[in-house]
Amino acid sequence: MTRPLRLGVNIDHVATIRNARGGDHPDPVRAAEIVARVGGDGITAHLREDRRHIRDADLRRIQEATDLPLNLEMAATEEMLEIALAHKPHAACIVPEKREERTTEGGLDAAGQHNTLAPIVWKLKDNGIRVSLFIEADERQLDAALKLGVPVVEFHTGEYAHAHLDGDSDKLARELKRISDMAALAAKNGIEPHAGHGLTYENVQPIAAIPQIAELNIGHYLVGEAVFVGLESAVRHMRELMDEAR
Ligand code: PXP
Repeated sequence: MTRPLRLGVNIDHVATIRNARGGDHPDPVRAAEIVARVGGDGITAHLREDRRHIRDADLRRIQEATDLPLNLEMAATEEMLEIALAHKPHAACIVPEKREERTTEGGLDAAGQHNTLAPIVWKLKDNGIRVSLFIEADERQLDAALKLGVPVVEFHTGEYAHAHLDGDSDKLARELKRISDMAALAAKNGIEPHAGHGLTYENVQPIAAIPQIAELNIGHYLVGEAVFVGLESAVRHMRELMDEAR
């Protein structure tokens, strides 16, 4: 059965906990196996320039451990391009990356960086990797994604998540409309829209209800919940909420 809305589980923060002690526990590969067992649709992992969570060797181990598609989040650099071409993940999501940020704080400036992104997008696509751009839900960025010829965009839901946390209902409605309008426009133009960042049990449903959105990528909250209820239960519950909203 094809699922109407896929759940990609970002396992970076299992590696964050592992790295806090420098050993090999908890192993993100074990997390990937659990995600596969409970019906997650994909594994997402961000190999950052400073390797603060996922490391190079994790990628191959994750790919060998499950049949789930791997979505590699990567900065648009020569180093990451080489790694992507060596591993050939199912998908590569190009994200902005600043060493000093705690997490990916905003979308990629696809409009301003066309010339940097074009050869990278081209090489990834040429190697059969499904390319996605992590962008803000705005028309200028979507136009730039169209010009770059990517099949997928992932809309950054960080501002939406902040509005939810702040209890700012006007901003929340504005953010939701922006994401929903851009998802419709993307789909109309043949681009598959995904969404992610800061999604939780409390805020996931309005995003999951946007009919054009084909995939959500969720990490930090699920790993946090896993501390209390286990990863299996956390993924299952997120899946239920997504299905209910659809
Ligand atoms: N999608 C992308 C492209 C990301 O970079 C991240 C992590 O920043 C996520 C989804 C998952 O975000 P979170 O960990 O907040 O669920």
